[in-house]
Amino acid sequence: EVAAAIDAKKTTLADADLDRRLMTEKIDVTLPSSPQADGYVHPISQTIDEIIAIFGEMGFTVAEGPDIEDDWHNFTALNIPPDHPARQEHDTFYLPGEHGERKVLRTHTSPVQIRSMMDQGAPIRIIAPGRVYRADYDQTHTPMFHQVEGLAIDRDISMANLKWVLEQFFTAFFGTEVKTRFRASHFPFTEPSAEVDIQCSWEGGTVKVGEGDDWLEVLGSGMVHPHVLRSAGIDPDEWQGFAFGIGIDRLAMLKYGIPDLRAFFDSDLRWLRHYGFSALEVPTLHGGV
Ligand code: PHE
Repeated sequence: EVAAAIDAKKTTLADADLDRRLMTEKIDVTLPSSPQADGYVHPISQTIDEIIAIFGEMGFTVAEGPDIEDDWHNFTALNIPPDHPARQEHDTFYLPGEHGERKVLRTHTSPVQIRSMMDQGAPIRIIAPGRVYRADYDQTHTPMFHQVEGLAIDRDISMANLKWVLEQFFTAFFGTEVKTRFRASHFPFTEPSAEVDIQCSWEGGTVKVGEGDDWLEVLGSGMVHPHVLRSAGIDPDEWQGFAFGIGIDRLAMLKYGIPDLRAFFDSDLRWLRHYGFSALEVPTLHGGV
């Protein structure tokens, strides 16, 4: 009797609950559907637009080169001769080419230096954002990633100009004054060479740029090597300049608080809805980056 009473009570409660839900959860099929988003700008595209806006104001134009490069532009013209150990360090993806000449997926944006100097000669002031490829995969490395190359050649360009340009860039990009640290380094295509760190703090487990007393490496740079100028048809006795290569993905992660590099390239629409940008906002220095 007790069990039957409990069952009966259960049924009445369940019925009452169902009635309540039918009353409150009505779907009005005559309502217009919720508006569909037009799509989102990927954080990498947004970051590239911001980089172009900032360097654009400093007189740099955008140059491009192919993702599938030849060995000469990617290595030899950049003072990396055959059998140079730097070729192994790059974990290059090779492709079959014509006439027994293999092609490479460019391992950095530096070949665009060569292409631009050969096309435009000196003086020149360009940036070259784009995809680069290395056979590498973990939490901080993906086989495809992004760099922006910078190149300024004129009669009296110095390391001081390089330092100023980079500090202007980071301060505009992060919207706060960012100290930089130059560390002596080596690249075959620059002499002298420096790796550049930006000031940051790791307090509380999250990185904050522009404060604290830790450093984060973000780019390689230096004065363009005379051999490189000569390869590209520019007389090193008349012209000199600086070049740099910044990792774009790392900058986007830092600015927009994105913890895992790999998520950039998973093509997950939920992720893009969360981290993406409105397609109608075009970054400019006046409008805000
Ligand atoms: N190409 C270098 C790299 O990918 C970066 C760099 C560019 C260094 C220009 C110096 C000058 O690591």
